[in-house]
Amino acid sequence: MSTIKIGIIGSGGIAVLHAKAYQQMKDVTIAAVADVVPGKAQEFIQMLGIEGAHAFDNHLDLLELDLDGVSVCTPNVTHHRTSIDSLLAGKHVLVEKPLAVTLQQSIDMVETARRTGKMLSVGFQPRYDPNMKNIKEIIQSGQLGDVYYIQTGGGRRRGMPGGTFINKDLAGAGAMADIGCYSLDLALHALNYPKPLTVSAYTSNHFGTNPLYHHEADRFEVEDFGVAMVRLEGGKVLNFKISWAMHMDSLGPTLFLGKDAGLKLTPAGTGSWSGVWDGGIGSISMFHDIAGQHAETTIPVIDHKIDIFHEKVRDFVGAIIEQRPAPIPAEEILINQAIIDGILRSSEQGREVEIKVPVFA
Ligand SMILES: NC(=O)c1ccc[n+]([C@@H]2O[C@H](COP(=O)([O-])OP(=O)(O)OC[C@H]3O[C@@H](n4cnc5c(N)ncnc54)[C@H](O)[C@@H]3O)[C@@H](O)[C@H]2O)c1
Repeated sequence: MSTIKIGIIGSGGIAVLHAKAYQQMKDVTIAAVADVVPGKAQEFIQMLGIEGAHAFDNHLDLLELDLDGVSVCTPNVTHHRTSIDSLLAGKHVLVEKPLAVTLQQSIDMVETARRTGKMLSVGFQPRYDPNMKNIKEIIQSGQLGDVYYIQTGGGRRRGMPGGTFINKDLAGAGAMADIGCYSLDLALHALNYPKPLTVSAYTSNHFGTNPLYHHEADRFEVEDFGVAMVRLEGGKVLNFKISWAMHMDSLGPTLFLGKDAGLKLTPAGTGSWSGVWDGGIGSISMFHDIAGQHAETTIPVIDHKIDIFHEKVRDFVGAIIEQRPAPIPAEEILINQAIIDGILRSSEQGREVEIKVPVFA
């Protein structure tokens, strides 16, 4: 079996999960690691016992090696530069989420992937959660009929990070970029990414800027809460909510309302079941219990032990070997980024704005 040679750019927290996943694969060699902090890549290699890997203080030196692919595990602001350099050097790229800090950067990245013919895949591991596959299957099966309303989002009661995550120039956005991108992907992927048209949004940072709630309140520049109404093509509307901090336990369930049936997903830990409400008054077909207790199921019981992070990294390697397209194409996630961009513009201007989704020739 020939070996797939991988480089890792950025050797912080998330890079450990990438490296551990690659280390479990017999057909993969981690050939090099690069980090801008001198000596950090070497420490990483030693800490994880990555035999024979080269350490660099600059990603451009790493890219001179003969590699099949790279994992970009740097802070959001450098995804753009490091991914583009990697694609131009002829490497396939698995970039951590969010794709980039600005919509224009995301467009540049997608254009470079198209021009070089290399893969640019985005690290959204929830895509490999069997729940997400079931949700998409139910919606695409037509069981709900035409879906006209989607409500989704995520709510942490107290969950504000610090460091680069709260700096606008480095992170791009706050809760939207950190966790909102996952919720948006859940809903939009299930619907096969319909085109977004307009958005009316409100964002705030009452908690992040309050020293009672955040120890870096004086440098907190992003939103810790956001709500948006997004009009989608085909007469659909998406009600999207996200929070890093709030005086509430949850922002409610995810709902897909169709003309024939509805699908409800309760936030983890807040309810005992999720289900499809079909056309009959008061009738529910249970399909899966998020809490792991299965009631009456209409589809097979889900294996909760699946390692979705490993699955994401493995799918990237599989796509290199089988010469498949990017498993989670940046072109699709660009729509996600265009919505977040629209939300921030709408909130700033205090009115509904158009969402600009780039069209590629
Ligand atoms: N998929 C997930 O579940 C998940 C979870 C956490 C973080 N992330 C994403 O992963 C990325 C990194 O997050 P983290 O928590 O590992 O951050 P981190 O700060 O722990 O690590 C980032 C590393 O990149 C290095 N770095 C910065 N610029 C670089 C450059 N130009 N070239 C090489 N190295 C560079 C830093 O020195 C640091 O060691 C972020 O984009 C974040 O959103 C994803």
